[in-house]
Amino acid sequence: EDLIQAKYLPLMFEPKEFFSSIKNLQYKKGDIFVCAYPKSGNHWFSNIINHMLSTKDLDEIEFINVPLLETPIMKTLQERPSPRLFVSHLPDSRLPRLHFENGGKIILILRNPKDVVVSYWYHLSKDRHLGCSLSWSGFLEHFMKGNVLFGSYFDYLKKWQRLIQDQKYSSILYVYYEDLKERPLEELQKVQKFLGTDGTTHRLNQIITKCSFNNLKSNVDSGRLRTTLVDENKQPFVYRKGEIGDWMNHFTVLQNKQFDELLDRELKDSIFKFRYRPSTHRI
Ligand code: A3P
Repeated sequence: EDLIQAKYLPLMFEPKEFFSSIKNLQYKKGDIFVCAYPKSGNHWFSNIINHMLSTKDLDEIEFINVPLLETPIMKTLQERPSPRLFVSHLPDSRLPRLHFENGGKIILILRNPKDVVVSYWYHLSKDRHLGCSLSWSGFLEHFMKGNVLFGSYFDYLKKWQRLIQDQKYSSILYVYYEDLKERPLEELQKVQKFLGTDGTTHRLNQIITKCSFNNLKSNVDSGRLRTTLVDENKQPFVYRKGEIGDWMNHFTVLQNKQFDELLDRELKDSIFKFRYRPSTHRI
């Protein structure tokens, strides 16, 4: 029943102990969870939220590299002052029970599966710890079967959908990566309303500029923003390309056809609407 199996998760913890410590995490008023499948824009979005939550001058706010809830650093996360921001790739059933019981806020970020799989392949190929030597086509096959770290993206989506659809939980907002890219102000205004933060349009625009792909990337390149996710040749893969539709440079026509068929099946009843089928395709 539980589709996320321990073997698809980082082996940093003995799974049983690891999951129960997350599940029993204490709640603090104002806790916010940013949830997303890997490569959906977690780093970008958590930086945006961190800026939105602060009342400091924007220049004084440092960029962050929020560790995932499901890493050994979890214990130190607990001690941070409120409002605490957590980032996680886990489905709702694995997240802290008390967060749900207290109506804690959750923002779900969604990115179209084709760009996710491309981005994930680069990530896993470059990550020293998670190192994966699969070719693009090999990785794509695994991804389509859900045989990758954190399991199937489609199962992940279905789980969140169930929570939203059953109306078991209302403190949840979902935002698409593509919308954040194309109309950031509008999306951040939605987020602002949801979080109850204030900030003028001017400030939101400044946050958007400060957290732009180029700015974040140049901060990583200059060493000001530290991320562990850099390979030996200093190639960051958290801030790799930051575009919509890079999948078109990777999928062959046949791969695209097969992936579309899979998407048609998996997303048939989905409340999440992705854009992934432009008429032109470069390979
Ligand atoms: P690409 O590999 O397609 O470039 P995560 O933070 O969840 O690991 O997601 C990483 C993806 O988000 C990468 O995608 C990365 O380039 C993209 N990204 C990071 N910062 C971004 C920004 N400011 N704007 C748009 N995309 C961004």
